[in-house]
Amino acid sequence: MVGGGFWIVFEGGDGVGKSTQIALLSEWLRTADAGPRTVVTTREPGGTDLGRELRQAVMHGEHVEPHAEALLYAADRGHHVATVVRPALERGEVVVQDRYLDSSVVYQGVARGLGDMVERISLWATEGALPDLTVVLDMEPLAERMARDLDRVERETVAHAARIRQGFLDRAKLAPQRYAVVDASRPIADVAADVRSRVAAALQRVGGTSGFDADSPGVEPWGTP
Ligand code: TYD
Repeated sequence: MVGGGFWIVFEGGDGVGKSTQIALLSEWLRTADAGPRTVVTTREPGGTDLGRELRQAVMHGEHVEPHAEALLYAADRGHHVATVVRPALERGEVVVQDRYLDSSVVYQGVARGLGDMVERISLWATEGALPDLTVVLDMEPLAERMARDLDRVERETVAHAARIRQGFLDRAKLAPQRYAVVDASRPIADVAADVRSRVAAALQRVGGTSGFDADSPGVEPWGTP
């Protein structure tokens, strides 16, 4: 924890519902009975002007060589932590962030096979900054659930998604006190309630926020099936 703030990161494979859960949690934190908090929602890649350019380059530009890609994510991360995350935490705010270092470790380190160096360059870029809590939204990848007569390319996509999923679960196992693995295959409101209670517990652990009532939804979860 930095300067009385609290830093929450959401991680998980593509399409697990991070944006929805980030919006719901942020709204709850802003309106929580126990004392609303100032919340900064942000993302990687792309939480700064430089980051938006890097995001464009990595995700929508020409093919980027994997090592270069890992370095671009780390560059975005270093700048983002220094200019957005740390200042907000020092002001005592809550930062709710879409993806961080574990995305690089899992997508570049594990899935692309670049190994341990990926974590080291991110830690170097951020001077070792780690979130107070990482929420892993865990769900069986859609393709796996739909798997029928897949061709070779589709099977590779399914295997890739499975490696990503397992990568995040393995990260959470390494430091269970800093992670909350939440089953994201359930209805949005159930996932949101689980996320709230894990966040409330983590906030209590760091002190000063014992009144957070995770059972109070704060706002009506939208899009509930
Ligand atoms: P994101 O914008 O979170 O989109 P999505 O809605 O698919 O989650 O992430 C975009 C992609 O960037 C996603 O496929 C994961 C990838 N990514 C990495 O490969 N490494 C990283 O370090 C980060 C932050 C993201």
